[in-house]
Amino acid sequence: MNKGLLIVFEGIDGTGKSTQMSLLASYLKKKGFTVIETREPTNGKFGRQIRALYTNRRGVSREQELELFLADRQEHVHTVLTPGLQDGNIILCDRYFLSTAAYQGAVGFSPAEIIEKNIFAPPPDLALLFYVPPKIGIERITAGRGDTLNDFEQEASLQKVAAIFDSLEFPYIRRIDATGSIESIQKSVLLAVTPLLRHMNHNE
Ligand code: TYD
Repeated sequence: MNKGLLIVFEGIDGTGKSTQMSLLASYLKKKGFTVIETREPTNGKFGRQIRALYTNRRGVSREQELELFLADRQEHVHTVLTPGLQDGNIILCDRYFLSTAAYQGAVGFSPAEIIEKNIFAPPPDLALLFYVPPKIGIERITAGRGDTLNDFEQEASLQKVAAIFDSLEFPYIRRIDATGSIESIQKSVLLAVTPLLRHMNHNE
């Protein structure tokens, strides 16, 4: 049985979920919980291959790309998530299999079939699904980060991704309106997370 908690941060690009993940990590550490912060794609060998595709697809098909995301996740589950949960940590993960359902769903795969392919991955205790209109997400990426958009981030694609995120229904999903201030979004995050902390060990 898992003693830990798996909390995943999901949503389109530019919702501010990574900022919220850092804020939650600091809050939980202050409260005495042991926290592991991680993300997908990982920095492992498959994750690095995935990132390389952002700038040059090198003729890699959408099928091969999906397989890379799944291979990256398998490695992540075996090396970080399962051991971390068994040791009683709170794991915060920036993106997980709902991102695969939404992003690879948006390029033509069936979201339900993608979820089935993730049967090996422990379901999260909580998936915080951050939503903003795709236009605002894109403005945040280009203005805030000064970045150019990767393949997945063009507005038409993000609209499709957002529509799939909207359609997903699982008992562990909590939707977070991410259009407000950082502070107001953090309040919503804490409201969703606090009930899960009651049964967790911590040193305070
Ligand atoms: P992102 O969290 O934005 O990482 P980075 O900060 O390195 O850019 O994720 C990168 C992109 O990968 C993002 O646009 C969504 C995409 N993605 C998928 O298409 N499928 C997946 O399964 C995952 C985890 C991410």
